[in-house]
Amino acid sequence: MASSLAAQGGLRVLVSGAGIAGPTLAWFLARSGARVTVLERASDLLAQGQNIDLRGTALNVVHQMGVLDAIRACNTTEKGTEFVDDRGRPFATFALGEGGGGALTTEYEILRGDLAHILYKAAESQPGVDFRFGTTIERVVENGESAVRVELSSGEEVEYDVLVLADGQWSKMRKQVFGTEGLEVVDKNCYVGYYTVPRTSEDGEMSCIHIAPRSRVVLTRPDNHGTTRASFSIVPNDAAQKEAWERASRSRDRKLQMDLLRSEFGDIGWKAPRLLREMDAADDLYFQGVQQIRLAKWYKNRVVCLGDTAYAPTPLTGMGTSLAIDGAYLLAGHLSQLQPGQHPATAFQAYDEQFRPFVSKTQAIPFFVPRILHPQAAWSRWIVQTLIATAARVSRLSWITKLFATNKPTTLSDGLVAELDAPFPSFPAFRRS
Ligand SMILES: Cc1cc2nc3c(=O)[nH]c(=O)nc-3n(C[C@H](O)[C@H](O)[C@H](O)COP(=O)(O)OP(=O)(O)OC[C@H]3O[C@@H](n4cnc5c(N)ncnc54)[C@H](O)[C@@H]3O)c2cc1C
Ligand SMILES: *[C@@H]1O[C@H](CO)[C@@H](O)[C@H](O)[C@H]1NC(C)=O
Repeated sequence: MASSLAAQGGLRVLVSGAGIAGPTLAWFLARSGARVTVLERASDLLAQGQNIDLRGTALNVVHQMGVLDAIRACNTTEKGTEFVDDRGRPFATFALGEGGGGALTTEYEILRGDLAHILYKAAESQPGVDFRFGTTIERVVENGESAVRVELSSGEEVEYDVLVLADGQWSKMRKQVFGTEGLEVVDKNCYVGYYTVPRTSEDGEMSCIHIAPRSRVVLTRPDNHGTTRASFSIVPNDAAQKEAWERASRSRDRKLQMDLLRSEFGDIGWKAPRLLREMDAADDLYFQGVQQIRLAKWYKNRVVCLGDTAYAPTPLTGMGTSLAIDGAYLLAGHLSQLQPGQHPATAFQAYDEQFRPFVSKTQAIPFFVPRILHPQAAWSRWIVQTLIATAARVSRLSWITKLFATNKPTTLSDGLVAELDAPFPSFPAFRRS
């Protein structure tokens, strides 16, 4: 077989965003011989983010990167999940791994910031990979036939063969290159605010979920840094409430966001008063409308979208990180197969065609899911709580665990199993000698 473009050291790739997808892509591209520059807007790696987990194929991919053990060692130490009433008494408990692929707590539970760090370290140590922090793309000067030229925030103008946008759900460059045509933002009518608080004796080793009246949920989870991660979520019950949450989620005004959280959750018992009191001191409040990104085509000439930029699925699926990792692997694989003189769009098209069916299935959340998890009336709340309690008692693989996590089966036989529909491609360039 002829040597690929990447293997000849010919492929020059610029990646925007050092989150989850960016470093994963850089690692695999470097392995195939490409030269990669990763730009990150933040002056340092973003340490923020709450629990995420890895499922299915993504476990295979990080295993190939040699970081699976590091990920395991960095787990959040959470022992399982319990549902508690307004006095904190558990009425349903799910142990670690219970519920199989739909488990509420899996073995691969890790904080987003820890995972980002592990992936960055792996990528950064590869020859041919260069990270530049505090640097962004100012504009794409030319997305041409033979190269893509961009102007950086530093004022330099640089030229690459390929530009990969992996800079998150609200990528500015996606807007510039792709416009809004073909972009669909699917609103799941659910809002979340989360942050870190000091851990106290009432927190324990379990993730605790409290379903409060009027479509509100409060959640705490232990982490491996000696602190507690708190999360407040709501499904608005009328237009005015919706408008207030939408405004806060679009705003960068932390005070506005905190005031809303306090006024909307102030009457809840359990740990809520303490968590709200601690909010002022938290420096990592993350406030989000639960919205999906769908893009009709993931590439345009020499520019391609990856991870949340192309297909953010929302935390309701539990698959955002796994999709970013799977997508990075596939995109790097197809790029590594390019022959000298071949246009990168050939690789982009193969990535789009191969991955899109899986992404679509992952994004297909039944419309009623946020509402079921946030029951409005007292009676529906009682029904949901009874169902959850029954599920915890009678069934290990219950419908509720599947609702909470992903709507996909992810069978983890000895931890490593491919779950993509298409047979997982083994790219020759990736085979480790
Ligand atoms: C701070 C933060 C906290 C998060 N917390 C959670 C969470 O608790 N639970 C959850 O399910 N998901 C969370 N997510 C989303 C989750 O990380 C993604 O769904 C998933 O991992 C896909 O990763 P990604 O690499 O595509 O995007 P992201 O992880 O969003 O990474 C994008 C990266 O691009 C950088 N960036 C943004 N704009 C530019 C630019 N113009 N130029 C260069 N770099 C840029 C960002 O700083 C970030 O490092 C969080 C994301 C972020 C950024
Ligand atoms: C989770 O991390 C703790 C502390 O590092 C470790 O003792 C434990 O074995 C880890 N769990 C798994 C499943 O690897």
